[in-house]
Amino acid sequence: MQDRIMDVSKRRGIAYPSFEIYRGVSGFVDYGPIGSRIKQNIEDLLRRHYVIGEGCFEVQCPTLSPEEVWVASGHVDSFADLMVECNRCHECYRADKLLEEVGVEAEGKPAEEVDALLKERGITCPECKGGFGEPYEYNLMFQTTIGTGKGKRTGYLRPETAQSTYLGFRRLWEYARRKLPFGAIQIGHSFRNEISPRQGMIRLREFNQAEIQFFMDPDDKSAPRFGEVADRKVRITDKDDNVLEMTIGEACERGVIRIPFLAYQLGKALRVFEDMGLDPKRLQLRQHREDERAFYSSDTWDVEFASDSFGRIELVGIADRTDYDLGQHMKHSGEDMKVSLEGRKFIPHVMEVAYGIDRPFYCVLESCFREDDDRTYFSFPKKIAPYTVGVYSLVKKDGVPEKTEEVFGKVREAGFFTFIDHSGSIGKRYARADEIGVPYCITVDYETLEDDSVTVRDRDSKKQDRVLIGELIEYLR
Ligand code: GLY
Repeated sequence: MQDRIMDVSKRRGIAYPSFEIYRGVSGFVDYGPIGSRIKQNIEDLLRRHYVIGEGCFEVQCPTLSPEEVWVASGHVDSFADLMVECNRCHECYRADKLLEEVGVEAEGKPAEEVDALLKERGITCPECKGGFGEPYEYNLMFQTTIGTGKGKRTGYLRPETAQSTYLGFRRLWEYARRKLPFGAIQIGHSFRNEISPRQGMIRLREFNQAEIQFFMDPDDKSAPRFGEVADRKVRITDKDDNVLEMTIGEACERGVIRIPFLAYQLGKALRVFEDMGLDPKRLQLRQHREDERAFYSSDTWDVEFASDSFGRIELVGIADRTDYDLGQHMKHSGEDMKVSLEGRKFIPHVMEVAYGIDRPFYCVLESCFREDDDRTYFSFPKKIAPYTVGVYSLVKKDGVPEKTEEVFGKVREAGFFTFIDHSGSIGKRYARADEIGVPYCITVDYETLEDDSVTVRDRDSKKQDRVLIGELIEYLR
């Protein structure tokens, strides 16, 4: 499946490996002309849900920050994976991933335990079958220097957008007119120097995130709009690996999901993914095990997608980060992160909703990929499709191209993402549009010159309607 999707993706300008002319470097991807449009639409959909839907503020902060930030956040000390190196060919691997391939869950387990498991299973280097040295902690941040001479400082590319949002907390608190809760969303690049990533777009070294930080009163993690998600049926794997089926409302009542705000955000994320075009039957909730949870979190839940190519993939992580981050920055910077509210002084708690963009992007491709007897296409929802409509001339003579330009101008002026194409057989042009998931194609022909009507073809049904040019924009809307 992944091969067929990536084949269309490379041929049609959706996404392809970076640095190809220099033999490539794993963990990086280029979004082409079509992929950039789809990615932008995914990001805009998130903006619609969180900036408009939840009233969050959008911020954009630097991707590079001085070392102090990452010492305070705990990432310099703790943001590491266990790595093993082959004694013979010196290739390096994430130890827990080697174990995962033989069905052993080892994420977050201590080095000695992982070492014992690798030995017990007789796992050797996948490349050369050599033995491994002992696992050791490998920090995933990219280090660099900022400036030069006396002002030179060590810096790191951010491994999450979250910290840069926290640093501006005092400004945001003032902007929110000193009220809680409020949310701040940041959409942008993050960087992790992953150990030999081998999963295409699923594990990238430079990747895109949309992370929302909700700053909350620790005594009030309620969700006033809980009713919107309460009846949603979900499949849940809890922290003790129990698999449960119930509604989000029941999960809260029975204490499976402890925090109503977290439960609401999980339900909301499911809705967001369905809106993107992901198959609802392939989505489930999973709570992190105690030994796997990130160092900053007291409770973390993921929405996972069951991918044909990669198994279960985390698409969004929702975590109760408590007062950990603001508390750490207060301690290290000296800046007071406490707020005064209703006679109480406290450090707000953070509930984080951390979306990846690249993974949902791949899962949208996988969910919308269709292969018929005679064609391959993506059935993207209209708000995700790279273009809404292509405009074609049936023939390249007798005034038809000029009329096509006129129709194209109207569609473009109306604000639709559209393109025009005069070349090749009409069947081939439809096939090309299908392969990038364009929902509609308009064709101008001889009849158009007589009665001002055009053919509008629907991507999924291939049904064709005859529509008057004067009614075309309304029809498309
Ligand atoms: N900010 C959470 C994460 O990057 O996983």
